[in-house]
Amino acid sequence: MSNKAARNLFIIGSLFFFVIFLVLTFDTMGKLDKRAPVITEEVNAGKMTWHKYDCIGCHTIFGNGSYFAPDLTKTAENKPKGYLKQFLMDPKAVNAKAAMPKFGISAQEADHLIAFLEWTSKVDTNGWPPKPILAAAAGVGGKELSAGQRVYQAQGCTNCHMINGIGGTTGPDLTKVGSRRDRKWLHEHFEEPQKVVPNSAMPGYKHLGDQALNDLTEYMLTLK
Ligand code: HEC
Ligand code: HEC
Repeated sequence: MSNKAARNLFIIGSLFFFVIFLVLTFDTMGKLDKRAPVITEEVNAGKMTWHKYDCIGCHTIFGNGSYFAPDLTKTAENKPKGYLKQFLMDPKAVNAKAAMPKFGISAQEADHLIAFLEWTSKVDTNGWPPKPILAAAAGVGGKELSAGQRVYQAQGCTNCHMINGIGGTTGPDLTKVGSRRDRKWLHEHFEEPQKVVPNSAMPGYKHLGDQALNDLTEYMLTLK
């Protein structure tokens, strides 16, 4: 190859790959903005509150932080706002065994934190964090599910409750709930938790209808 041909190859080759580099850069930058919703004043205030109480000292978010407590990136997806608010302001009022301390978070700070967590839950994280635990709790283990187990699975009870070590930790452990509650209590509690347990943070399930609540109750009674 002559010197001239080598120089042309170098210049044209460089230009070619520089153009590809530019196209890919613009393509990525164009998509980045769409992966996260707009940051409002409230979301920003929530992030400040997040730092004020050093939540990352126990929790992870987007994979960063400490592994003492659950990852919070997608928490707001599975938990109603009222529930999160009660939990943030006083974890032990929601679950007597909660390990999260009461920090003295005000109602306004809780609203800000929830706005921040709602924002993180809407960020496109390519499926992070993975969900093996919830999937396992859903009973993908071969055995045929009872009617009550199917309702339990479909309603996402496992987001808040644990059975035999699988599930969420903010609600009470249900592994032995059948030995401490009877049929009548369970049914009434499903219809309207606050009627049976004052200030209960659990959502009501009256809208599921009697049949589904009976199935759930039967399932709970087998947990001993
Ligand atoms: C000292 C450690 C610690 C700190 C600091 C802490 N948490 Fe927690 N948090 C926990 C633990 C442990 C749990 C799991 C439930 C339980 O046992 O209380 C939890 C649970 C939660 C949950 C429920 C998660 C779910 O999906 O079930 C939320 C929401 C939460 N924390 C938010 C926060 C926020 C916001 C902050 C900062 C204001 C914070 N936490 C600071 C320990 C901590
Ligand atoms: C957003 C969180 C959340 C969800 C979702 C949830 N629960 Fe609860 N649950 C709680 C909390 C908090 C309590 C403790 C307060 C109470 O007893 O009402 C509780 C209490 C209970 C109790 C009483 C436990 C005891 O020993 O007193 C049962 C049974 C129960 N839940 C079953 C269910 C079932 C079944 C579902 C799904 C249909 C469900 N829960 C969905 C948060 C939740």
